[in-house]
Parts: sequence; structure tokens; C-alpha cells
Amino acid sequence: MSMKYYITTYGCQLNVHESEKLAGILKEEGYESADDIKDADVIIFNTCAIREGAEDRVFGNVGALKKLKKENKNKIIAVCGCMTQQKEKADKLYKMFPFVDIIFGTSNLYKFKEFLNKKTKRLLAYDEDFNLIGENMPFYRTSGDNAWVNIMQGCNNFCTYCIVPYVRGRERSRKSEDILKEIKEVVREGYKKITLLGQNVNSYGKDCGEICFSELLKKVCEIDGDFKVAFMTSHPKDLTSDVIDVIAKNDKLLKEIHLPVQSGSNKILEKMNRKYTREKYLSIIEEIKTKIPDVRITTDIIVGFPGETEEDFEQTCDLIKKVSYDGIFAFMYSIREGTIAEKMPNQVSFEEKNRRVNKILQLEKEIKKGKNNGNN
Ligand code: SAH
Ligand code: SF4
Ligand code: F3S
Repeated sequence: MSMKYYITTYGCQLNVHESEKLAGILKEEGYESADDIKDADVIIFNTCAIREGAEDRVFGNVGALKKLKKENKNKIIAVCGCMTQQKEKADKLYKMFPFVDIIFGTSNLYKFKEFLNKKTKRLLAYDEDFNLIGENMPFYRTSGDNAWVNIMQGCNNFCTYCIVPYVRGRERSRKSEDILKEIKEVVREGYKKITLLGQNVNSYGKDCGEICFSELLKKVCEIDGDFKVAFMTSHPKDLTSDVIDVIAKNDKLLKEIHLPVQSGSNKILEKMNRKYTREKYLSIIEEIKTKIPDVRITTDIIVGFPGETEEDFEQTCDLIKKVSYDGIFAFMYSIREGTIAEKMPNQVSFEEKNRRVNKILQLEKEIKKGKNNGNN
């Protein structure tokens, strides 16, 4: 009987895709996927660090594995991802859970095969060097007829609330020829949707003199085959007209744009270091709606950023109504250690954040209702 693995993934699509890479390595090593965590010989937790809640859940769920390890000492338990890319968190896990065998971060994901086959007792692999992009890793794709294709790693933006630049390093774009080769392969294999992934896809190529994002999109659409193309995530400061034009003109591109605004208040946007104003954001939305009439626009909102007053929050609600989004992901601001906003004064209470997030959910419902009744 073959050995089995079970992977639990937290966080965004980048993590989902990286779990597909881990699964690819495990498959190559002769493992099969287990339906139940209890039957797995290798258990992996691929973690997220974006908000406190995501990290708390990992501590709770990894803690619960103690019993499984006691029943079978040969099980290998690994914890990886964005949370364990933070040295203090990796150290804490290592000390707190002696039954965890392997702990590693996003920067050394490509070494997983080596870690798996190492016969040493326990391993805590921490590396601050993000240079390697891990080309040529195998994949075991698990997202139906959608194939995730990473176009770049990392983020340079340092929004003041966000942990991502610390746990994913600076922007590194993959070579367009490697991306196009991968897409040709997945199209040949029959995937019907290709989703290009990056924290800030609009700055694709800027770090290495590659073609720009709109050129990449054009080249992807030139590939023969019956497939659709989506991408995420776009940063409003870098979304240029050429990208909007390509989406408008090309049938292969889905008419969907996820454009996180975070806040509708210029004061808060500045404190967040987002590098655009509400006026600029609204003008981009106007351009998108004019050029792509049937477009679906979605967004991310953070409520309760330090110093966010009722007036600032009202500005966000007003912007939401003006854009009339097709979907909103609203989050309560969560303090992340090591970020600039961690030390900002006037942190907002949990109760107030909760009230604001619920108000946004309510607004979203009203917009949906209006749309179903035929209004825009
Ligand atoms: N790169 C993407 C966002 C990735 S993180 C972008 O810039 O648009 C996904 C979302 O998580 C963000 O858009 C933001 O709304 C939310 N987020 C990030 N850090 C957060 C924090 N500290 N507290 C609450 N929400 C946060
Ligand atoms: Fe985080 Fe901002 Fe980078 Fe998005 S652009 S990953 S929110 S720092
Ligand atoms: Fe979370 Fe890391 Fe994605 S922090 S949101 S899994 S990049």
C-alpha cells in the first residue's frame, strides 16, 4: 500500500498553488493523497499570516495533531508557509510543539523534497534569502478545470498594515517564456481557465526588464485553445489603460476585475501607503465601466485602520455605493507585528471594527438586491 499525505492550506490562492507544488513533490516521491488526515503518513499545514485569526487557527489545529503523532511516531508533520517565514513564529511553533518534525518558510519551499527525505530528527529551516523562484517544481493541480499560474513572487509596496512584503520578499517576475510554456502545457492538458497569480500583477516585469503585464496578457491570449484567462491581484496604483484595453478587446479574458480599494478616505489611504486617492480610484473604475460595460468589479476593504473615524468610514461606504461592487471582501484591521501601522496611535476597538464590518456586509446585500431588481 502506498504512503499517503494530507495538506491543509490557509490563506490566498498563492498558498493554494504552493500546496499544489508540495503535492507534486509528494506524488513524485510515491505518495498518494489521503481522504482523511488520520490516514496520512505526511501531514502538512501550509499557513497564512495576513491576520491574527489566520495564525491563531494554525496554532490550535497543529496542537490538535499531538494525539495522532502519539498513536503513530512515524508520521511526519510539517508546518510551512507565510506564518513560519517569520522567525519568531517559527521558533515559537518549534518550542511549543515538539511533535512537529519539519518547519520551513516560503523562501525555502523549493527545498521540501530535501527536507522530506532528511533523516535528522527535527528540522527548523529558516532562510531570509528570497532570490530563488523555484522554477521546474512539479505540480499536482487540485482546482478542477482552473489552473493557477504564478507570474511573479513577492511585493514591493509595503502597505503599512500588511505582512506580505516581509513573508514573501521583493517582487521577482518569472520569465515570460517560462510562463507561456507552462500555459501552453495546461491548455494542452485540457484546463479551461487560467488564473495568473501575483500580489501585484500590474507591476509584472518591472523588476527584470521583462515585457509589461498588458503585453504578457496579449501573448497569453494568442495561445491557441479553448480557455479563459483571469488574474489577481491588481493594485489600483499600477492598473494602467493598456491593461483595461486588453481586457476589453480580448474574448479570452474574463470580464472580471478584483481591484482592492481598502478605504474610501484619502486620509486613511495615505496612512496605508496605498499611493492613490479616492478620486483616482473612482476615475479608474469609470474607465473600466466605460470600456468594459459587462464587467464584474470586486474589492477588498479594511475597516478600523488606526485613526479611522466615523467620517472616514462613511467615505468608504459612500465609495462602495458609487462603485456598486459585484462582491466585497471586508476585513477588520488586524495588527501585524513588524509593520508600520502596528505602532500607529488611535487603534480602533474590536466592537467598533465589528460594527463597521457588519455595516459593509449589509451594504453589499443592498447593492446585490438593487442589481437583482435591475438597477446598477
Ligand atoms: N496584494 C493584494 C492583497 C493581498 S492580501 C493587494 O494589494 O490588493 C488580501 C487582503 O487582505 C488585502 O487586500 C487586505 O484587504 C487584507 N489585509 C491585508 N493585511 C491586513 C491586515 N493587517 N488586517 C486586515 N486585513 C488585511
Ligand atoms: Fe500587502 Fe499592499 Fe503588497 Fe497587497 S500591495 S500584498 S496589500 S503590501
Ligand atoms: Fe496569507 Fe501569505 Fe497569501 S500571508 S494571504 S498566504 S501571501
